[in-house]
Amino acid sequence: MLQTVIIAINNIIKKGYVYFFDIIPVMSKYIIRGGKSLAGDVIINGAKNAALGIIAAAIMSDEMITIENIPDVWDINVLLDAIKEMGAIVNRVDRHTVKIVGSMCTTTIDNDNIRKMRGSYYLVGALLGKYKRAQVPQPGGCNIGTRSVDQHFKGFKQLGAKVEITYGGLISAEAASLKGHHIFFDIVSVGATINVMLAAVLADGLTILENVAKEPHIVDVANFLNSMGANIKGAGTDVIKIRGVSKLHGSTYSIIPDQIEAGTFMLTAAATRGDLLIKNIIPKHMEAISAKLSEIGAEVIENDDSIRVVAKNRLSSANIKTSAYPGFPTDMQPQMTALLALSEGNSYVSEKIFDNRFKYVDELIRMGANIRVEGDVAIISGVEKLTGASVCSPDLRAGAALVIAGLVAEGYTVVEHVEYIERGYEEFEVKLRSLGASIEKVDDEEDSALYARKMALKDIS
Ligand code: UD1
Repeated sequence: MLQTVIIAINNIIKKGYVYFFDIIPVMSKYIIRGGKSLAGDVIINGAKNAALGIIAAAIMSDEMITIENIPDVWDINVLLDAIKEMGAIVNRVDRHTVKIVGSMCTTTIDNDNIRKMRGSYYLVGALLGKYKRAQVPQPGGCNIGTRSVDQHFKGFKQLGAKVEITYGGLISAEAASLKGHHIFFDIVSVGATINVMLAAVLADGLTILENVAKEPHIVDVANFLNSMGANIKGAGTDVIKIRGVSKLHGSTYSIIPDQIEAGTFMLTAAATRGDLLIKNIIPKHMEAISAKLSEIGAEVIENDDSIRVVAKNRLSSANIKTSAYPGFPTDMQPQMTALLALSEGNSYVSEKIFDNRFKYVDELIRMGANIRVEGDVAIISGVEKLTGASVCSPDLRAGAALVIAGLVAEGYTVVEHVEYIERGYEEFEVKLRSLGASIEKVDDEEDSALYARKMALKDIS
């Protein structure tokens, strides 16, 4: 037995797969054996970013709210815990359904987890709208560049609130009353659009929001609020008009599918030269990604609520520029870069939303990619293959990109800091495994060693 293991380990070392053994596991990691084409059906969960706004909106009613198709991911669970800590009744009926009654006993929240997430800022708009005061930590979230909230503050102030950062880094917002206002945002911001919309729903009179973001989850939050009795028109266009109402009632609502999870699986199909049917999605929301995939040679077949992506050959290069919806989403930029790293020819990926979203490129380079970052552009010279390596996921979407690279790379890839990926993908590795991927999540040193041995034995069998 011992001899078998020694032979296996020697084999791994000869093949260059030595990095299994010099990892000091602290957090969870994925161990991936690349090189398989993925095939099969995958069901997409509810949209994380819509759910964050919708959970915050739910506390604005005193009646029962039922939210369906809620994803079971870290960010969502932290927000649910936070509203529970503040007095809301939160009943997780099943994994994807939650009932909420917004019987808040405080308008202040502060804990370590809530400080690490971004969507917590929606509690400011929701609490300010309903109780006319809120104290919530400044948002955390992925470190992908400067993430100012000045437009949120501008909107709240124009509705009549006093907003400041108080001792300990809490956003403190307060108003005797909120009054509708004509607000022109200086930049297009997803977060500011939703947050100010939340506060304006219970303000007196008419609020007009101009130069707003148009992402599908903004429309979803507006539809949810309207289902509670709000009067919002124009969500999904450049101008949103909100006529304030005095209170919001109960509702049952199902969240839209996650556009970014769907896009990630579409690109996984293309990168692994696979054949995936991505189900439970709204194809219209995927147009920027579908168009790019078709342009570089993948087959994209749209159905009513699913998309099939097939790629048989090496894909060609492309130029990408991220922009607000309906443009190419910044949250798909790292995954697209991983795909283009393997495409034929030179690609240019230009990041226009965040100023530090190429941190993962060094990790792709360690796997053999040929990418140079100059300012906000990644210049990619496609290579024919990537080689497995131990890489570190710097944030949520970059982590997904490294997994895609690992699925294609020759040999073994270890992706560290899976906790970032779990902020936004439900059971990512389970779904990938069901499509034929060799991927395991390991939690500690013992698990890593066992998995390494399992893989080593597979290598010599
Ligand atoms: C949301 C999404 C995130 C996505 C991003 C862009 C959530 C919880 N997160 O983030 O996944 O990557 O949209 O689609 O929905 N800005 C300002 N001032 C502000 C607000 C934003 O200058 O008050 C800047 C930001 O620094 C950034 C850009 O505007 O450069 C876009 O940010 P925004 O659309 O607000 O993104 P988030 O709401 O943070």
